[in-house]
Amino acid sequence: MLPEELRTKFAAMIAGAESPREKAIDVMFEIQDIYGWMSDEAMQDVASLLGMSPLELDELATFYDFIYRSPVGKYVIHVCDSAMCWLDGQHQRVLDYISSRVNVPLGGTSPDGLFTLLPVCCIGYCDRAPAMMINKRVYGRLTPEKIDRILDKIIHENEYPERE
Ligand code: FES
Repeated sequence: MLPEELRTKFAAMIAGAESPREKAIDVMFEIQDIYGWMSDEAMQDVASLLGMSPLELDELATFYDFIYRSPVGKYVIHVCDSAMCWLDGQHQRVLDYISSRVNVPLGGTSPDGLFTLLPVCCIGYCDRAPAMMINKRVYGRLTPEKIDRILDKIIHENEYPERE
């Protein structure tokens, strides 16, 4: 599945590591940056480069909230569901509001492929709870107004992409 150029690049990364397995997450993240998720074919290719079985690699991947084993939207909204974000029922309010805004249930992807909504363990914004992460950016002190601003911007940018 992986083109030769990527195989060569990953083989070099892995060769430079003390143990091939320590590069497993880095390689999977790089593949996700390109393809958006880790397909079974990609898992097999990476496992073989790492000298692991696909099952071993899959078990490792399932520990990470940010390794996607099925296709996701262009923007993955991870809503924190850890303790501080649960206080005062904030988590459920935020989750319900986002879900209604993007019209996606938790675990789902919008029909236009723009948004996926997923839970995540603490993302280090406990002092700014409730928090969420969209792709690699973290947002805290979420209110319906702030969520609207964030989502409206994303939707607008995708409806009217800048012309080069
Ligand atoms: S508990 Fe939500 S960011 Fe830490």
